[in-house]
Amino acid sequence: MVFDFDEVLDRRGTDSVKWDGLKEFFGREDLLSMWVADMDFRTPPCVIKAIQERLDRGVLGYTIPNDKWYYAFICWQQKHHDWEVNAWEMMHMPGIVRGLAFALQCFTEVGDRVLVIPPVYHPFFLVPEKNHRKVVYSSLIIDEQDEIQLDFEQLERDMQDCKVFILCNPHNPGGRVWTREELLRIAEICERNNVLVLSDEIHCDLTLPPYKHIPFASVNQWTREHTITFMAPSKTFNMPGISTSICVIQNPTLWEQFHTYMEASELEMGNVFSYTSAAAAYSEGEEWLLQLKAYLLENIDFTQAFLKEHLPMVSMVRPQASYLIFLDFQKLGWSQEMLTRVVLEDAHLALNDGTMFGQRGEGFLRLNVGCPKSVLNKALHQLADAIYKKLNI
Ligand SMILES: Cc1ncc(COP(=O)(O)O)c(C=O)c1O
Repeated sequence: MVFDFDEVLDRRGTDSVKWDGLKEFFGREDLLSMWVADMDFRTPPCVIKAIQERLDRGVLGYTIPNDKWYYAFICWQQKHHDWEVNAWEMMHMPGIVRGLAFALQCFTEVGDRVLVIPPVYHPFFLVPEKNHRKVVYSSLIIDEQDEIQLDFEQLERDMQDCKVFILCNPHNPGGRVWTREELLRIAEICERNNVLVLSDEIHCDLTLPPYKHIPFASVNQWTREHTITFMAPSKTFNMPGISTSICVIQNPTLWEQFHTYMEASELEMGNVFSYTSAAAAYSEGEEWLLQLKAYLLENIDFTQAFLKEHLPMVSMVRPQASYLIFLDFQKLGWSQEMLTRVVLEDAHLALNDGTMFGQRGEGFLRLNVGCPKSVLNKALHQLADAIYKKLNI
């Protein structure tokens, strides 16, 4: 079956954050929405069908995880990431950000130090801050070639006295896929400092060829015993509205501790669509995902070629995973305030401000290319026109 990613969908009127939230978040509605990380594509037919069949049973009662859910996830990990997971190591999570918050509440105390490496997905520091933990900001380097590198010396210094490190694997923004060598070095630093790692791997199944995702927990015995891994079908199969994700803990003591915490408030329970939709995605969604990734690669190539030809003063961090492009406007020499104003008021685009991911995001905006090519083309032309107008060219 060939899936149609060119279809332009009207998502307004579906209470979508990305489209119906424009007024609230950007103060106006006349924008092309290229921000929130969900895609303007239909969710795969296999997922819709599974939900439909569940609906057709006519009763929306309480739901327990089913065998198919365990089996589909375990087989997927084995096949796609060479990672052996057992059913008793899994736990349902009603969302990854929530999972990070629960893990912080369970494994740390108020005032404990939590390390993050910005620019990074903003809840990584907002969640610990709002939970009164002390956030330690280490730095990620975005070099002259717009390539993302880790600063291991700084990481080593900053990790001291930290209780938890929140790793984004692959990294958002920027879509960097960490190599085995990099993960090993991170692991060594974490081990030396006895730090618990929360590894958010939500973007892992969108890793684009030729890159390969490596689950942090699979790197060595130490990471296996000291990592809480969060994964989900949500980004991959465009179904984040269902709020279903999975936590894997391979250390039985940590699993028990977290489960006791979660169970106390029934936080680990999924909703009526959680297990059935996730199982359908992992067991029947592979072909859809293959075609999606090919389409995303074309959109990334298209954006890169467009910038080179029409907007050489804007460059990009080329994502190795996922559909979020970190655009680099530093050569324009504009303030962040001017940059965001031009993009909003003249280009009529809703993009994420790079600074929302931390200080190092200055000079950047994040563009979501999980959309039909025609929409991307329109957005890039609007961006180019607005910049040239501002430059009086
Ligand atoms: C790295 C990362 N983690 C988590 C999330 C959100 O996950 P959830 O909706 O399951 O909380 C996102 C969404 O963009 C993300 O990029």
